[in-house]
Amino acid sequence: MKDFLWGVSTAAFQIEGDDGKQGRGKSVWDSYCEREGVIENGDNAKITCNHYEKYQEDIALMADLGINSYRFSTSWSRIFPEGIGKINSKGVDFYDKLIDGLLEKNIQPFLTLYHWDLPQALSDRGGFQNPDFPNWFAEYADFIASRYGDRVKNYCTFNEPINAIATSYYAGVFAPGHRLNREQALGCMHHMHLAHVRAGKILREKNAHVGVAMSTFEEYPAVLTDRCIDEAKTQFFKRDCPLNSIDVYMDPIYLGYYPKWVLERFPDFAEKTALTREELKDVVSTYVGYTTYSGRPILENGQEMQRPLGVAKSVLGSILDSNGLYWGPKFLTERYKLPLYVLENGIACADWVEKDGCVHDTGRIDFLRQSLEVIERLRKEDVDIRGYFVWSLLDNFEWLRGYSCRFGLIHTDYESLKRTPKDSYYFYRDYIKNIGKKV
Ligand code: BGC
Repeated sequence: MKDFLWGVSTAAFQIEGDDGKQGRGKSVWDSYCEREGVIENGDNAKITCNHYEKYQEDIALMADLGINSYRFSTSWSRIFPEGIGKINSKGVDFYDKLIDGLLEKNIQPFLTLYHWDLPQALSDRGGFQNPDFPNWFAEYADFIASRYGDRVKNYCTFNEPINAIATSYYAGVFAPGHRLNREQALGCMHHMHLAHVRAGKILREKNAHVGVAMSTFEEYPAVLTDRCIDEAKTQFFKRDCPLNSIDVYMDPIYLGYYPKWVLERFPDFAEKTALTREELKDVVSTYVGYTTYSGRPILENGQEMQRPLGVAKSVLGSILDSNGLYWGPKFLTERYKLPLYVLENGIACADWVEKDGCVHDTGRIDFLRQSLEVIERLRKEDVDIRGYFVWSLLDNFEWLRGYSCRFGLIHTDYESLKRTPKDSYYFYRDYIKNIGKKV
């Protein structure tokens, strides 16, 4: 019980802000925000929550919340403005102070190296397409490990690999918005695998825990028959397109080999990957990270179950369904046989500061209540789950959606930057306080 991590998650680009005087280099998301019509309302993340200057206030809020871990990401281009080479000491100091401030409050830092904000300078050289990508990432990881490794023990190399590769380099939806062909995009994925392995080896030398934060399509059995469970599990791991297939992303870095089907179907790719079997043979991952926001019920016949009319949804349209949170950890720990952390789980609600000065986000409280019940259930069923992180600490820049929706336990006023803890913040705080008595 004592070792379980109760936390919240954020990402650098979404909360830090940059007034242009901090020495941070541009990232692909800065450039994406400059493109017309891409981000809702033309929003950008120049100020966002200004966590860069307000981090002490945010740490105090985390301490009051009672969490014992905080998942955040370092901005690669804040440390290496050009992606490699020259270092920005202001950026390095910022993370030093953040990490020390957390530790003073007994909050363990959980550091993500890559939460989508690729340095623009590296993107100009092809980003994930460049075979040098693993070397660049290793240089970055090496710096992080030597500078912060004495204090940070938990690392996530890549946040949501599907979004980092398929959504960004294949579907052209996220920055840098490339629409490569399938083979080229698979090459990007392959470079990400190698980068994970290289960085993982470096971090493991510091006795650190290493994993990725995996999003999935959250399939689960609609009925509890063996056939339905098998069907849901199959769909959970394997999709027709390898760029959306969890097993193709995860097996290499968790099991040390690619799924057979992908090598058979893509002989060209197989030839390239065969060269790197050697590289993949040391599995550096020590835990599975999972991010989940909903669930997708699958019937015995493989079809998705129809939802009732008027089913409860978040303001972003994701269905209120905590079964993804229940079944994902079961499937993932069964296949990879490693401890699991839920690194993101949350909901976007329509909430605001009401006349009484409070934010009564009852929808989010209900979501959290359902999620926390699932966590308790999983722990009782002996699933090796080691932590749960709410997305997110505070309302922030929601990528393509800009500031149009709110995920925080804390409300952010984007004019005054005032933070107002919502009712869900107090709910989570009470839950953490009382959990020792329950589990
Ligand atoms: C991402 C976050 C994002 C959240 C809510 C996750 O996919 O990691 O950066 O804000 O979902 O959409």
